[in-house]
Amino acid sequence: MLSSIRSVRELTDGMRARGISPKFYIMTFGCQQNEADSERLAGFADAMGYKPSHVPDGCSLILVNTCAVREHAEKKALSCIGQLKHIKAADPSVIIGVGGCMVSQQHRADALKHSYPYVDFSFCTTELWRVPELILDRLRGGRRRFPDVAASLSSTDFSEEVPVLRRSRTRAWVSVMYGCNNFCSYCIVPYVRGRERSRLPEDILSEVRGLVGGGCRDITLLGQNVNSYGHDLDSGVTFADLIREISRLDGDFRLRFMTSHPKDATDDLIAAIAESRVASRHFHLPLQSGSDRVLAVMNRHYTAEKYLGIIEKLRAAMPDIVITSDIMVGFPGETEDDFAATLGVMRRARFDMIYSFIFSPRRGTPAARMAEQIPEDVKSERFARLIECQNAISREKNESAVGQTLRVLADDGFDDPADPTGRTDGNKLVHIRGEAIPGEFYSVKITRADTFGLYGDII
Ligand code: SAH
Ligand code: SF4
Ligand code: F3S
Repeated sequence: MLSSIRSVRELTDGMRARGISPKFYIMTFGCQQNEADSERLAGFADAMGYKPSHVPDGCSLILVNTCAVREHAEKKALSCIGQLKHIKAADPSVIIGVGGCMVSQQHRADALKHSYPYVDFSFCTTELWRVPELILDRLRGGRRRFPDVAASLSSTDFSEEVPVLRRSRTRAWVSVMYGCNNFCSYCIVPYVRGRERSRLPEDILSEVRGLVGGGCRDITLLGQNVNSYGHDLDSGVTFADLIREISRLDGDFRLRFMTSHPKDATDDLIAAIAESRVASRHFHLPLQSGSDRVLAVMNRHYTAEKYLGIIEKLRAAMPDIVITSDIMVGFPGETEDDFAATLGVMRRARFDMIYSFIFSPRRGTPAARMAEQIPEDVKSERFARLIECQNAISREKNESAVGQTLRVLADDGFDDPADPTGRTDGNKLVHIRGEAIPGEFYSVKITRADTFGLYGDII
């Protein structure tokens, strides 16, 4: 990898000597794992001598990092890849690579190879470290390359040497583990990201230490199921241990993590967060459904009561904790009673916010083959009721913050400098009145709230 980076660097130095300034553009779809992976791809591009660009036109290197979690995500990625055709036609020397979860499915990698001739190579989620080599090979006139997905995903190697070019100086993602072993029956992620692999605690600690030392104030530990961190390591270290270790580091920063799986949310983890100086009072705990029957078919390994029990413990340990969730409607066989159970759990849990989803059948997953797929109109109608129910709760929850003074970290990329925004410890969006320096903490008195955020004055 490092020798490929050096060799590409020599080639881009050659371009610069000829008066061409090579630039790169990365398009990212999907979740924070993909955002984090794209920062690694940007790290490669930077080390290879490409400069970042906000548009694909005029770039010598274009990388697309795709998502496969729902059909809509795949359609969006394919349509954006389609738009790159004219760029390649105008300049055949442009290198186009497509990676991520969508192309970590053999049928998608094959489709790219056969129907998108302007794509130079594609790579699976487990082989980011091969990207410099793929670029080098293509620059030297090598053939187009597409993965044998099963072989690529079975390789569990990952490199700690990968350079990272982060988008934000204030907030950072830190992957603690890769992959997922849970095989929830609707989900494509375990098929496209491979088995769980935990990073060593010392590597994570040194990355976090470096970030905090460099001025980063908000760090999110990432994994598909962070609560099972360490299960694959010999040392017996748990996620709670990791939180405790990171909490011992010096510096003024916030620590977040996502995503937690209710089946693995232990009392020890709750205690580790409650006693931590830096862990945010925020817990994202996907519910998916409030019906025990549906949860069992989803292969989630918990019941609604067990779920509500965790929420109760979180609130008992930290009364001000912000709790958010993921909820899906329209899972195969979901009856009106099942859906009513979901609304019932939502009303009892009183989430601050949820990410809501309409079930989308994913090829190769058990749920896609289940009989009793729910008609689209029923799914949409339930989705609308789900959102209506949550919006009312979100609004009440946010309004309860009016009059409070909260510690807010100013974002480092507000859309409009006249309207600075920031985040509370619970990760709520705050529109700040007053001058705010990006990356600084402020005490903000909340004066107003709506369903989607808070408004307040710096005091
Ligand atoms: N690992 C995390 C998140 C995985 S993907 C977790 O376990 O919660 C993020 C969310 O996408 C999931 O929580 C789920 O609600 C949703 N999702 C996953 N597969 C889906 C599908 N096939 N259709 C609709 N939503 C889906
Ligand atoms: Fe998908 Fe379940 Fe793994 Fe989350 S825990 S990534 S929903 S299989
Ligand atoms: Fe999408 Fe892959 Fe994330 S499928 S949601 S980018 S893990």
